[in-house]
Amino acid sequence: MCGIVGYIGSEQAAPILLDGLTRLEYRGYDSAGVSIHDGHKLNVIKTKGRLRILSDMIDGGNSVHGVSGIGHTRWATHGKPSNENSHPHVSNSGNIAVVHNGIIENYLQLREFLTSRGVKFNSETDTEVVAQLVDYYYDGDLLKAVHRAIDRIEGSYALGIMAAYYPDMIVAACKDSPLIAALSEKGNFIASDVTAVLKHTRDVIYLEDGEYAVLTPESVDVFDSFLEPVEKAVSHIDWDISSAEKGGYEHFMFKEIMEQPEVIRKTMAPRIRNRKVILDDIQLSKEYIKGINKIYIVACGSSYHVGMVAKYNIEKLARKPVEVALASEFRYCTPIVDEKTLVVCISQSGTTADTIAAMREAKRLGGRVLSIVNVVGSTIAKESDDVIYTWAGPEIAVATTKAYSTQLAVTYLLSIYLADCCGTINADEYERLVGELLTIPDKIECILKDKEHIQYLASLYFNNRDIFFIGRNIDYALSLEGSLKLKEISYIHSDAYAAGELKHGTISLVEDGTLVIAAATYQRLLEKTISNIVEVKARAAQVLSVTTESGKGLVAQVSDNMMVIPDIDELFLPSLAVVPMQLFAYYVALLRGCDIDKPRNLAKSVTVE
Ligand code: M6R
Repeated sequence: MCGIVGYIGSEQAAPILLDGLTRLEYRGYDSAGVSIHDGHKLNVIKTKGRLRILSDMIDGGNSVHGVSGIGHTRWATHGKPSNENSHPHVSNSGNIAVVHNGIIENYLQLREFLTSRGVKFNSETDTEVVAQLVDYYYDGDLLKAVHRAIDRIEGSYALGIMAAYYPDMIVAACKDSPLIAALSEKGNFIASDVTAVLKHTRDVIYLEDGEYAVLTPESVDVFDSFLEPVEKAVSHIDWDISSAEKGGYEHFMFKEIMEQPEVIRKTMAPRIRNRKVILDDIQLSKEYIKGINKIYIVACGSSYHVGMVAKYNIEKLARKPVEVALASEFRYCTPIVDEKTLVVCISQSGTTADTIAAMREAKRLGGRVLSIVNVVGSTIAKESDDVIYTWAGPEIAVATTKAYSTQLAVTYLLSIYLADCCGTINADEYERLVGELLTIPDKIECILKDKEHIQYLASLYFNNRDIFFIGRNIDYALSLEGSLKLKEISYIHSDAYAAGELKHGTISLVEDGTLVIAAATYQRLLEKTISNIVEVKARAAQVLSVTTESGKGLVAQVSDNMMVIPDIDELFLPSLAVVPMQLFAYYVALLRGCDIDKPRNLAKSVTVE
């Protein structure tokens, strides 16, 4: 969480920093600040609240002068959102300013150490110790002072550091938190994410754990953890800034929902050639795949829900046992992993701290890690044995939609690929499944055309206080995602249950008018699901069902309203059925006046455990 940006060059820094921070606001948005070097000293302006408050305070950056600076947008960990706890943090002397993403785990010891030497602290944050420590060690060489300070730090960090003595230098360092340096004719940058600099340049250097970068207006020099110079490759980003902009839509979330057919095509097309699933991206041999004893799928949030769908599909097609684990639990549950265990890590950002920790634990235990990641060059992508990119493009809305859909698409390809290697599907079935897979984007387009109907349904139910989602098998996995989507952006309490489980307790919460959203797409268990719908109807619940063209006849008899999707092979139903659920959540949140792209208390990239 938290977004960092830094600029040093020939132009005024403050407007550039504000623009960069706008694109990083998805990483946190409870406070923001900048530190600008005016040629003599560091000027720090920071405030609690959204970036626009900071921007208003400094007239869009025009009232603060200087050609170098660092900026930050925060998601609070240590200390509530307040002016004092906002970044940049400055040392007592006013000579060192720091922006930070991550967590300094031993900050209390360091704080005690510095306090005993007369340092006074002005915030409750862990970050402030970095500023004070760098100042404490400074004896004429900023890079060495940063190096000494970092030597004492435990935890994760991406840091941007400036000193009053150096108007033309920014020092950056990172470990377990993403940071890039970027180069352009008009100056150089650091940022948590390339989207912050794309307006100015596409040439970026991905900093590795333990590396330092020293930026001047003309150069970016990178050093390893011993401060030895490192030659770094400059990567060229080939996607356009427009993909990180709203393009006329009111919200990023809506734009990203609408982009789904296109990005799913992009994800699948290069991997299906002559009706064969080709996964050039990965190096798993047929022998290895045949010998897999277990597959662990490890992820958080919506990515975990994708894992739930993948479990059903991989077990069904490839006949390998699959366990889906929440990344935050995986490493603490003594997982049984050996060299025959394939651990699939799913992450849009590739920087989710829990998933990173789980991936490292899986590797330590000898497992082979295959990751499904959207952000190219992210930590999870870099550290995995194999990676399949989802090619969804930048996803800005905190609530994931198109990344979820492309993750699903990759898991379908993987399921078919594994089944083919294991010899568990025959040629006809293989061909039929690939054919069905290719119909997904067009069928989603059909669903999107009917969005006004879903908007109408949202208008019927947006005032509900509690909403339950139910479904069986793959519909249960889908319900988990439908429920998360709704609650995270509309703030309506919602939970998802395996439909057969409701009667074991939760049904006591169903009363007159309670809305139950029933996922009833999985034909094989349709009658069972209908029985569960009837049970809640008998308690006077309102039922809104998601079903298929072929299921709608039966489902209509027990539902108050329906969202109908085209028919498709049962393995791929969640790709279609999630779309009305995303739209429903979106329209409900819209009617409730919620901040859809930046829901309260959340951040897009969860880089703390
Ligand atoms: O970047 P990741 O896929 O690792 O993120 C995992 C979750 O934080 C994420 O899916 C989260 O649940 C979203 N807010 C859901 O919309």
